[in-house]
Amino acid sequence: MLATYTNLVETENLGVEFTAGGRVIRAVDGVSLGIGEGETFTVIGESGSGKSTLALAILKLIKIKSGKIFFKGQDITKLKESEMRSIRREMQIVLQDPYLSLDPRLRVGDIVKEPLLPLGEKGDDKVDEVLSLVGLDPGVATRFPHEFSGGQRQRIAIARSLISDPKFIVLDEPTSNLDVSIQAQILNLLLDIQERRKVSYLLITHNMLVAKYMSDNVAVMYSGKIVERGSAREVIGKPLHPYTMELLNVTPTKGFMERIRKMEFIQEGEIPIKGCRYANRCRFAKEVCRTTEPTLKKVSQDHEVACFLY
Ligand SMILES: Nc1ncnc2c1ncn2[C@@H]1O[C@H](COP(=O)(O)OP(=O)(O)O)[C@@H](O)[C@H]1O
Ligand SMILES: [Mg+2]
Repeated sequence: MLATYTNLVETENLGVEFTAGGRVIRAVDGVSLGIGEGETFTVIGESGSGKSTLALAILKLIKIKSGKIFFKGQDITKLKESEMRSIRREMQIVLQDPYLSLDPRLRVGDIVKEPLLPLGEKGDDKVDEVLSLVGLDPGVATRFPHEFSGGQRQRIAIARSLISDPKFIVLDEPTSNLDVSIQAQILNLLLDIQERRKVSYLLITHNMLVAKYMSDNVAVMYSGKIVERGSAREVIGKPLHPYTMELLNVTPTKGFMERIRKMEFIQEGEIPIKGCRYANRCRFAKEVCRTTEPTLKKVSQDHEVACFLY
């Protein structure tokens, strides 16, 4: 049976909580998003904003507190691991640190085949193909990870993510641990692979240049929530949320400044109990920002922002 679906991946009001030191951290709070076929959807935000947690939740690698996850139109939220088997092969992940993510005791060929193990497949015939696809000589299959540089290791990790012929790959800060000179090569490789294999990427990054170069659509995450989202061109080109502006290091436009001058501002030092989580850091926070939680509001065709300034 073929399910019909618009987005390859969707989340509905996804929530993940951790308890640490008796305190509850809402790492992901009410996140709804859709990732289309063959697109790169990027989650931008500084460290600790919940990006990795969101990705792991979508892959069903951590427990979620609330909400739903859909893959190819199917609600996979409550599927047991045994029922996830055939879906697992279609979703893969590339982690940030290619030193930690490759088992030093295994040969490259065996590392690359790892995702096939739970599926009971050997995949020897596919190793050459995925190694070539990432620009490595098939001869490297018999060598060990320590023989390779960071960039080459990340190519091995990418080859591993491709061996099960996935439709969806999470790229969690895939170039953050690499030399600047290598980063562009890996990003171009990822774009090239997307073109050939028609995969969708959920790209996680704190780097706006990476987001701009790679993305079709972006979501800006702050403290577990999406505060702004839309096409990359809109959000990165015309940021609306003060947090996005901060990340992009841009100066607000004249119109923006005129509008906020007319608003009533809060006294400094007040701590928000409810309301916008960014309020304490926001240059433009006003009374309502401390008392009421803003929700995403559509401001144009493909641009939404959760901010009372709009
Ligand atoms: N396993 C965990 N146990 C407790 N807290 C966690 C765990 N994983 C993440 N967190 C917390 O959840 C928040 C989001 O973390 P994370 O998703 O790693 O952010 P990011 O990837 O954006 O840097 C942080 O406050 C982090 O400390
Ligand atoms: Mg992370």
